[in-house]
This record gives sequence, C-alpha cells and structure tokens, in this order.
Amino acid sequence: MNLKSKILHLKKEKNAVILAHYYQRPEIQEVADYIGDSLGLSQQAADTDADIIVFAGVHFMAETAKILNPDKKVLLPDVAAGCSLADSCPPEAFASFVMAHPDHIVVTYINCSAEIKAMSDYVCTSSNAEKIIRALPSDRPIIFAPDKNLGKYLIQQTGRQLLLWDGSCTVHEAFSMDKLFEIKRKHPDALIMAHPESEPHILKIAHYIGSTAGMITHARKFPKGKFIVATEAGILHEMQKEVPGAQLIPAPIHEDNTCGCSECAFMKVNTLEKLYVCLYQEAPQIDLSKALIKEASVPIERMLELSN
Ligand code: 13P
Ligand code: SF4
Repeated sequence: MNLKSKILHLKKEKNAVILAHYYQRPEIQEVADYIGDSLGLSQQAADTDADIIVFAGVHFMAETAKILNPDKKVLLPDVAAGCSLADSCPPEAFASFVMAHPDHIVVTYINCSAEIKAMSDYVCTSSNAEKIIRALPSDRPIIFAPDKNLGKYLIQQTGRQLLLWDGSCTVHEAFSMDKLFEIKRKHPDALIMAHPESEPHILKIAHYIGSTAGMITHARKFPKGKFIVATEAGILHEMQKEVPGAQLIPAPIHEDNTCGCSECAFMKVNTLEKLYVCLYQEAPQIDLSKALIKEASVPIERMLELSN
C-alpha cells in the first residue's frame, strides 16, 4: 500500500478526520476531508463527530480545534509548525498592553496563541474581521492584535480607530512591489488578488482583497481569468483545480528562492510521511489546560456565533 492509501485506511479505522489549510503541500491537501481557510477549518472542527482530528496546518489552528473539542484527540503532524505572526505577540507583553488600556474591547486575529485568545473578547479571521469590528459598539475603543497590516486595512474599511499591536507575517511581507509591477507590465490584463496580511502598498494596488477561501471564490467568477496571487503559494493548487481555465501567477518576492514565490516554512514542515506517522502513533497531540481552554473558548464561540 502506498502512503496515501495507508493514511486513508487508518483514518477510517480510527474514525479520524483530516483538516487541511490551503497552504499545505498538494499531497496533503489530496488526502484531506476538508481544505479551507481559518474560519472554515474552525467551523469544521466545531462540527465534526470524528474521534480524532488531524490538523494539517499550523499550531494555532490545531490549538483552536482543541479548544473547540476538549475531549477529542487533536494531532499536529509536526509541532514545529508555528507562525511568525503568532510569535510576534508574546503573552506577557500582550497582557501588559491590555492592562494599560482597560476600557478597550480586545479583538484578536486567530493567528495567535491560546494564551492570547484567553485575553481576548473576540477572535476573528481574515474572512469575518470586518463583520466583527462593525458589530462592536461604536462608543467603545478597540485593541486589534497581532497583525498590524490587517489592522490598518480594517481601519480603512470600517472607519473605526483601532489600537494596533505591532505584529506581522513574514510570508506576506515578502512581496516585492518592483517585481510585481514588472509582472503586471508583462500581463496588463491580470487582476491582482491579495491577502489582507499583506502590506498597505500591496493592498492599495490589489483588485481583490480577502481570505484564502475568499480568493478562491473570487477566482471562480472568472473561469478564464488571469490572476497575480499575493499570498502563500500553496493556495495555487486548489485554486487551479477549481478554476482550471485560469492563469495563476504567484506574486514575486524580494529574495530569490527556488519557486520565486512566497512560501510559509511553518506550513511546509508538515509532510505526508509525518501525517501518516502522527495518525499511526496518535502523537504529537495538542494538550492545553482545562482553565486555558475555558477562557480561550469564549472569544472563539463569540466569533462562530457572529459568523453564522
Ligand atoms: P486564511 O484564514 O485567510 O486562510 O489565512 C490564514 C493564514 O495563516 C494566512 O497567512
Ligand atoms: Fe503564520 Fe504567515 Fe505562515 Fe500564515 S503564512 S501561518 S500568518 S507565518
């Protein structure tokens, strides 16, 4: 049996579900029960009746699944699957920041640790952030963390003054404006799509801004479209499958690498082999204290309610 068949067999035997983010390696996406963005993955995790959740994504995503399913086993193929954005918001420093602004509602982007979520009033993702900010009372000041780029975008979209944490994602700050203009000159008919974690100058020239799932939905509207895609290159696999007639060009980055595109090293530490081993050994597991789960679940549940 090849690795893929072994995984599918074990998955059935153990009543496991495999949830994968769009940035995962193509071969991982191919064995997943569900592929999605952070919101879709959280909703799937909240709804599943599987006994085991294998989270093919990064640590904060698997933690969110565990917070929503304290009694299930949640596995992450490689615990080194972190996130530069989540790392840019250490819990102690954030606690001081929140304490210094006690009148503020605290909204955090899902790309943060369980400890940060536990200090939050609301969690949001790139697909519901605007909706959540707009739902908050207009007379209350708001802290938004950890992504300053998404925060700036939300200020512009909603007109609300947000007090921003100074965090960002290295993958979405890697895009080169000069190289992007060069590509645009070669393909004047191409539309630029960008994830809101990208810097303001990239968002300014984007024709569409949205979550990974939002970008795929947008691409579907143009079956023969040409797109320059400014997010992690893993998305191109599913996007091309869903819109086979489209021409997809990954947005170029400053530093040259083998693909010339932006890849998240954290997402890519997961491999098919590691996924198989973790399902077989039922390890590594996400383990969080009951107290932390209780506190962190409140802002996540609020987000899920507001997203229905
Ligand atoms: P999405 O929720 O849009 O998939 O974003 C997740 C992420 O980590 C982006 O870098
Ligand atoms: Fe984190 Fe950026 Fe990787 Fe998304 S792409 S998981 S925000 S480091």
